[in-house]
Amino acid sequence: MEPTMNEEAIQKLRENRSFVIRQARMSPHQKRAYERLAPQYCVPFEGQEDRGPLDWESLFERTGARRILDIGFGMGLELAELAQAHRDTDFLGVEVHKPGVGRLLGQIEERELTNVRVVRYDAVVVCHQLIPRATLDGVHLFFPDPWPKKRHHKRRLVRPGFPELVAPLLTPTGYFYTVTDWEDYALQMRHVLDESPVLRNRYGDRFAPPQEWRPQTAFERKGLEKGHQIFELVYERQDLGDRA
Ligand SMILES: C[S@@+](CC[C@H](N)C(=O)[O-])C[C@H]1O[C@@H](n2cnc3c(N)ncnc32)[C@H](O)[C@@H]1O
Repeated sequence: MEPTMNEEAIQKLRENRSFVIRQARMSPHQKRAYERLAPQYCVPFEGQEDRGPLDWESLFERTGARRILDIGFGMGLELAELAQAHRDTDFLGVEVHKPGVGRLLGQIEERELTNVRVVRYDAVVVCHQLIPRATLDGVHLFFPDPWPKKRHHKRRLVRPGFPELVAPLLTPTGYFYTVTDWEDYALQMRHVLDESPVLRNRYGDRFAPPQEWRPQTAFERKGLEKGHQIFELVYERQDLGDRA
């Protein structure tokens, strides 16, 4: 069968990866946390990408909780903070950077969080193959790598195909939230997301006002120190009809 436009765009997202695996230098604390806690809190995915969609209820051992996906959580402190403040919500964090995963696992233990699980893998593949459709109340993408050089723009996560990857995962009232301190990436994201028929900008065609619920992130602090402005975007799912 010929791939559809959406599948082609998603395939391109998978090929031009939005990350580089950095040298995984872990502190002894992160390493110990990783080895001890990964079996308990990480969802095995590498080597079993065709395992089929996740069963949320058995993963978190409860029903009825809200569900948030955090893409590229970095060191995970903000994710841990949100999870601690919203114990009625289940959080799935996706990150490729092993020390960051180790750090978040340590936070899960220190803060006694029962509502966080982690996947160490490319979020594009996770969204495509692991997350069941229409099950997420929110998707968070805090300070995605900006890939500032023009020849690297094709590695930016939010580009054509990304809305079609994420929107079907949202419940009818679910939202997609992103924030960046890179103005030209912010403008590109707003363009790509506004153009997509599967998402609707909650603030017309404008950036969102500062969202009080979001903790300040490490990358945000670095951006502010450089005098950068912060740009936030919030989208809702548009009815996909029989394309869902
Ligand atoms: C600029 S950092 C931002 C970290 C954090 N969200 C913050 O605001 O401080 C971007 C993170 O996204 C991760 N990342 C980029 N592309 C990814 C992908 N396709 N799947 C999983 N993680 C990814 C990177 O490893 C990096 O840790």
